[in-house]
This record gives sequence, structure tokens and C-alpha cells, in this order.
Amino acid sequence: MYCYVTNMSEVLSILEERLAEPTARGLATAVTTAVRDGALMPGTKLPPIRTVAVQLGISPTTVSAGWALLARSGAIHTDGRRGTTIADNQPPGSARYRRVLQRHTTFDLDLSTGIPDPELLPDLSRALTSLRTAGTPDSYLDEPVLPGLIEVLRRDWPYDAEAFTIVDGAMDALELAARSLVRFGDRVIVEHPAFPPLFDLLESLGARVVGVAVDEEGMSSAGLAAALAGPVTAVLLQPRAQNPTGVSLSKSRASDIAVMVEQSGVTVIEDDSAGAVATTDALSLGQWLPSQVLHIRSFSKSHGPDLRLAAMSGPHDKINNISGRRQLGQGWSSRLLQQILLGLLTDDHSVKQVAYARQEYGRRRNAVVKALAAQGIDVGGNDGINIWVPVLDESAAVLRLASQGIGVAPGSPFAVLPGQTGRIRVTVGLLGDRHDEVAAQLAAAARTGGWTSPR
Ligand SMILES: Cc1ncc(COP(=O)(O)O)c(C=O)c1O
Repeated sequence: MYCYVTNMSEVLSILEERLAEPTARGLATAVTTAVRDGALMPGTKLPPIRTVAVQLGISPTTVSAGWALLARSGAIHTDGRRGTTIADNQPPGSARYRRVLQRHTTFDLDLSTGIPDPELLPDLSRALTSLRTAGTPDSYLDEPVLPGLIEVLRRDWPYDAEAFTIVDGAMDALELAARSLVRFGDRVIVEHPAFPPLFDLLESLGARVVGVAVDEEGMSSAGLAAALAGPVTAVLLQPRAQNPTGVSLSKSRASDIAVMVEQSGVTVIEDDSAGAVATTDALSLGQWLPSQVLHIRSFSKSHGPDLRLAAMSGPHDKINNISGRRQLGQGWSSRLLQQILLGLLTDDHSVKQVAYARQEYGRRRNAVVKALAAQGIDVGGNDGINIWVPVLDESAAVLRLASQGIGVAPGSPFAVLPGQTGRIRVTVGLLGDRHDEVAAQLAAAARTGGWTSPR
């Protein structure tokens, strides 16, 4: 319980002092600034909307919109009896991600995780033997990125990018990119469905997330056109092996999207999280709009999540901005790890191991998809380690499979748009055998539920 002594008139003058513009965003920024300054403590009650409106000379609708922005980012909460209060200063939320990973039991077969099969990662021993020391005395002054690594990446990068940087995985890249572009209250377009931690990240920045449905060719053009009708700061999409749907953006859809994005001037952040284990060729809107794209490739699925490395390309100004901010914190991603990655990308044996993993993930996915189709269940997408299975009743399907020792992820944390049918995400990339048997259990679970209570 927090103790605070601030009364309503004090709160109002604190906000008034910090109100730079009489808009919903301005008001929301005044509240977050006051919290950051320590002028408003967690637990402080905010005055009623009408009082704020009269005192600050703005309309009640604007105040209410400001409160909605703050509520969405978790900065305040509204509770009928206690009114609206400043939220507890919790660590940045990862609520959706936790919901996906929530486990009540350990499973014999855990297909809920979205992780690569450790057996399909390349062997590190050869890359490790080439290392002698952990950097040079000049480490702090050296280039943050190994030039040899960039040279190798350019060979199969989907477009001719101006600049590159190396960061600690795709999630780090998304965080750095979003933080450099997105301001409190900005509208950001995301795919529906998409990767839950991305929503947590955007919410923590106070962004307004606008979902656009993904169909079999990627983000829907009509949906994107409608979403771009208002002001938008960024579009985030996964160009291939989309998590959770497995959809890869078609070339013609990419070119349609490029036209719309060019007209709007918005920045596109592309998250190629499957990287080298995707069977579809790499694709980027950077082919059309290099100055508006940040393209991220993760090495977690292909070379190991604990390498914690991803590459990000973009125009010089955006990449320099991101690298500059990073110098105030972490500085760079370990060159020792970059050296290992470079070794893995250039050693014939490792390249063959990754090529085998790519082919094997394809085989596993196809085997389950084909067996499900034989049971009348159509799973879309065509790439990556996950499948997105339509089910009658999401909770019932998850529970039924859990009772059979199979873990799967519920679909709802991946959703942005309301009112869609139930889904579960199944990481079939982890399934080396038993494809028909597991598909039969998935199919039975997909049909479970739909029970309605007797009147
Ligand atoms: C779509 C998507 N983006 C980002 C990530 C995070 O990748 P990394 O391990 O490189 O941070 C994942 C991991 O599963 C993912 O599926």
C-alpha cells in the first residue's frame, strides 16, 4: 500500500505545470512525466474527468482519451470504487508472453514453446577452436560490428542495405527500433495474429496498436490501406515463416504494401525471426523502399537462441541513431559471439547442418499439416517451426491436449483483433516423429468443446 498526501488541487497543479499541449497525448505525457519526476506516486488518485477538464481548459472527451492512452500502457488503472489511480511502478509488462508460456504441468511432449530443436542446431566446436582471446585492448574503441560478418550477411541479404548493425537477438532489435521511433500515443500497425512479446513491448511504450489481419499472402492490403488512413508511426511485419501462422509474404503482396507504405512515408520494421531455417527465400520491402525499412534477421532459430544475435539493416541515419543510443548502455554485442557466428556462417560443415535443419523442419511441418488435412483440418501457412490450428474451443483444446501430456500455446495472446475463432499454436518443428499420432490428437482436440449449458 502506498502512502500519499497529494490532494486533488495539488494533482491538478502538478499536471497543469507539465501540460505542454492540450491534447489527449499531451495530458498523458504530463501524467507520465509527473510519475517519472516523482511528483505523482503510485496509488495517487487522479481527479474526476470533469474536474480535470475544467481546471486544464480541455474537453472531457480529450481527458477521457488521455486516460485511455495511459490505461492501455499500464500507467494508470481504473477501479469503479477507488476511481482512477496511478499504477504501481511494475517492471515493464510481459503479460501476453507470460500467458503463452504459462505452464501448470510439465508435458511429455511440449509443443507450446516456439523454440528450435537443440538437436538441429549447428555444432559449435569448430567455431570455438578458432577463438584465442576475448577481444583486444581496443575493444571499447573497435567497430561495434565485425566487418567480415557484414560482408557475409550482404551476400544473401534480401536487398542492398545502406547500413547494418548486430544486436542481441530479434527481440532486442525490435525494442531498439521501436524505442527509437515510437512515442507515447503513436499508432503502430501490427499483424493479427503476431508474436505476443511485441504487443507487450508496444504497450510498454504507450503505443496504440492497430491490428491488420494476415491472410495466406501476408498482411492484408485492404486492411493495411484502412489502417494507414490515420496517422501511423510504424508498420511491423514478419516477412516469412510468420509466428504463429507460418505465412510468408508473397512478392506481389510485398510490392502492393510497398506502394502504400511509400505514399504514407511510414517506417516498416521487418522481423525475420526464422532466418536461415525458413524455406522461403528472404524478402524485404527494402527492395523497393530501402530508406523506409529496418530489416531484422535473427540467428536464434538457425544457430542457437543463446548466441543472442540478430542483424539489423536500414538507412544510415536510422541505424546510426540506434547504435548511438546503444553506446549509452550496452555498447555493442559481444564480438566474441559475432566471431562464432561468422565462423558458423562460413564453415561448410555448419552451413550444411543449418541446411539440413531447414529441410528437416519443412519435413516435420508438412507431415503434421498433411495428416491434419486428412482429418479435415486445414492449417494455413507454409513455413517455419509452428502451425496455427483452428479449434472449436481454445481452452478446451489446450486442456484436452494437456491431459494427454501434450503442451500447446493458446491462440488468444497472439491476437489483436477481437472476435476471431479459436486457435492453438503448435511448435511442430520439435516433433521428429509420431506425426500421424500427434496430428490425430490435435484433430480430436480441435473438435473438443462448443458445449453450451442447458437452459
Ligand atoms: C516473431 C518473433 N520475433 C522475435 C523473436 C525473438 O527472437 P530472438 O531470439 O532473436 O530475440 C521470436 C522468437 O521466437 C519470434 O518468433
